[in-house]
Amino acid sequence: MTKKVTKIGVLTSGGDSPGMNAAIRSVVRTAIYNGIEVFGIMHGYTGMVEDDIIKMDSRSVANIIQRGGTILKTSRCKEFMEPEGRKKAFLNLEKRGINGLVIIGGDGSFRGAQIFSSEFNIPCIGLPGTIDKDIAGTDFTIGFDTAVNTAVEAIDKIRDTAEAHDRLFLIEVMGRDAGYIAIHSGIASGAENVLIPERKTDVDEIVKSLKEKEKRKKLVNLIIVAEGDEFGGANDLSVYLKDKIPTLEVRVCILGHIQRGGSPTCTDRVIASRMGFHAVECLIEGKHNVFVGIVNNKMHYIPLNEAVKKKQKINQELINIVKILST
Ligand code: F6P
Repeated sequence: MTKKVTKIGVLTSGGDSPGMNAAIRSVVRTAIYNGIEVFGIMHGYTGMVEDDIIKMDSRSVANIIQRGGTILKTSRCKEFMEPEGRKKAFLNLEKRGINGLVIIGGDGSFRGAQIFSSEFNIPCIGLPGTIDKDIAGTDFTIGFDTAVNTAVEAIDKIRDTAEAHDRLFLIEVMGRDAGYIAIHSGIASGAENVLIPERKTDVDEIVKSLKEKEKRKKLVNLIIVAEGDEFGGANDLSVYLKDKIPTLEVRVCILGHIQRGGSPTCTDRVIASRMGFHAVECLIEGKHNVFVGIVNNKMHYIPLNEAVKKKQKINQELINIVKILST
């Protein structure tokens, strides 16, 4: 029989994403509403291993829904990858009577949760918190909407100066293994091309297309490069293109971590609040070791072990749209 969940821990892990605070607030307040005690685990799994755990109440999550980052802080914890680290973490939960966990993070964080729950029989619920949107089984991840809007706002500004100087700009966006920010920001900003890790980059095709555009005096071009593109980042591409087309005026702009910060959009606040609420409901109802996703505006509960095996695939339709609309 499933044990009743009476005390839960909540943590944020991996790269932070805007909306994590809204998710924490939702978990804390839903739990308290249901008579469940809540503990905040600081610095992701590190706080569990090092016993950095604080009691939370309704007030501790006041005035955070609009803030980026995470009040619980985050990290990528190496010790938790080892059995001894996880044992220490378990003992720290056990001494407080914590018998349920909500983990807000990406696929690496879910992997940790899955191993931990199978070793110590602690129910774990994941909330997909990543700007990369690379978790299969959900239409949304907390933070993607804010990050992509930050990128688009920046790219629009770059377009102004690109237009003024007739230049080619290579704009690098985040996404070590995933091209979602690149493809969405590329479509939304009218980019000529988008380079993503999920697809082999044909650089000679890019050279051909730029030469042809140069001939017809189309000199303003924006190319969006995901940082994890297999050809390399925007700097590598710039070197290659300058060598092949010396007449080209090329500039590189790496957007970097500004995409991870900032006040979450309304979409991110709402999905984070919905997911946080349902995470606690899952623990109460005994739905364990799943992550909460949203598909077609309905809540979905996907086993953590499935989430860690699959990657969100890039929709081919989006790739075609970039190509056709940039002609
Ligand atoms: O959170 C995901 C992500 O933003 C990736 O897109 C990026 O490659 C990575 O995190 C950067 O991580 P860090 O901040 O640790 O350098």
